[in-house]
Amino acid sequence: MEFDFETYMQEFISKEDLNVYNYDINQLKAYLNKDKPMMGWYDLDTLFDESLIKEIEQTADYIRNNCDVFLVLGIGGSYLGALTVIEALNPYFYNQVKKPEIYFIGTNLSADYYHDLIEIIKDKEIIVNVISKSGTTLEVSIAYQLIMNLMKEKYAENELKKRLIITTDVVKGKLREEVNKYGYKSFIVPDNIGGRYSVFTPVGLLPIAVSNINIRQLGFGAKQASLNLNNPIKYAVIRDMMAKKGKLVEAYTVYEPKLYALTEWLKQLYAESLGKEGKGTLPISLINTRDLHSLGQFIQQGSKILLETVINVKEPQNDTLIGTYNKTLSQINNIAMHATIKAHNQGQVPNNIISLPILNEVNMGYLLQFFMISCALNGYLMGVNPFDQPGVEDYKRIINETL
Ligand code: PA5
Repeated sequence: MEFDFETYMQEFISKEDLNVYNYDINQLKAYLNKDKPMMGWYDLDTLFDESLIKEIEQTADYIRNNCDVFLVLGIGGSYLGALTVIEALNPYFYNQVKKPEIYFIGTNLSADYYHDLIEIIKDKEIIVNVISKSGTTLEVSIAYQLIMNLMKEKYAENELKKRLIITTDVVKGKLREEVNKYGYKSFIVPDNIGGRYSVFTPVGLLPIAVSNINIRQLGFGAKQASLNLNNPIKYAVIRDMMAKKGKLVEAYTVYEPKLYALTEWLKQLYAESLGKEGKGTLPISLINTRDLHSLGQFIQQGSKILLETVINVKEPQNDTLIGTYNKTLSQINNIAMHATIKAHNQGQVPNNIISLPILNEVNMGYLLQFFMISCALNGYLMGVNPFDQPGVEDYKRIINETL
C-alpha cells in the first residue's frame, strides 16, 4: 500500500501551519485502546478468533450449496462493509456470473422495489441473512416481514429454520427474541462495535465468505494496518487541518468502478462518525471518469471548499490494447487519473493518493482498517465522539412515533 499525502498536499500546508498545529502522537496512539468503550473493532485477534472464523466459513459453505439466491437484509453499517468487499474482489456483473446470486435488501421503503424483487426470486431456492444490531430498524423490519411472507409460502417450518440466519445483539432486541423462540441459526454483533465499524464481525464476514472471498486474508491485511499507525495519523491530521482552513467537503475519488461501494462505505463512516456538534467534513464520492463530466466542473472551478482523496488500484486483473493510442486501457485510465489530479490541484484542490498494488483480500483488509483507525483518530482530534450517531437516532425515533 502506498500513501502519498505530500505531492499534491504540501503547497496547502505551510511550515507555520505545522508549528501551530499541535498533537501528541502518544496520546493519539493511547486513544486506540481495544478495551475502551466501542473500540471492539480494534481487537482483531478476538474478531478473527479461529473458532468463529471456522463457523462463518462452514455456514458460508452451507449457504453456497443450498440456495440460488442469498438475501442480505441490513442497512447502513449492517450491509455496506460486506457490499464493499464483495464488489471490490469479485468480477463485475456478479449475479450474472456467480452463484448464489446475492441481493442486499432492506435499504429502502419502495413498494415497487419489493414487488419486482419478489418476482425475480420467488421460484428460486432462497437463504436469508437478517442483520440488525438493534433489531428494530424500520427498513430491515419491513424487508424481514415481506421476505418471511414469501419464505413461509415456499417452505415448511422445518425447512424454513435451515434457511434463516440472524446476525444481531447477543441478548437485546426483537431478532434475538426470535432466535431464542424459534431456534434460528445466529451470529453475534458484539456490543462494543458500532455498525459502521463492523465489517470484520459476522455482519460483514458471513456475506463476504458466501461470495467465496478468503476472510482470513482480509483479517491478515487488517492486522497489518494496525501495525503501522503513522499513515492513519497523518491522514487524520490532514483532514482536521484542512477543515480548519475551510476545506469542508472531501471527495473520495476512484477510477475503478468496482470501488463504488467503497466510496459509499466511506461516506457512511465519515459522515456518521464525524458530522456532529456543528462540525465535520462532508464526504462525497466521484466515480471517474464518469463524474468528471458532472461534478468535475465544480471541483475544478467551484467554491474552494474541497479536499480530494483518490483511491487508486495500480494493476488491473485484465488489460487490453487500445490501438488508436497504442496504449493499454489501464495505462489510459492511469494517465486520466494523474492528469485530473494535476488539474484539480491547479484549481486549488489539495489531493491525497492512496494506492493499492492490486485488488486482493489483504489490501482491502488493510484499506478498511486504515480508514476506521484514521476516522476514530480524526474524531479525537476534532473533540467529537466518532462512535455515536445521535442524529440518526433522531430520525428513527420520529418516524417510529409517527407510525
Ligand atoms: O453505523 C451505524 O451504527 C448505523 O449505520 C447502523 O448500522 C444502522 O443504522 C443500522 O442499524 P441496525 O444494525 O441496528 O439495524
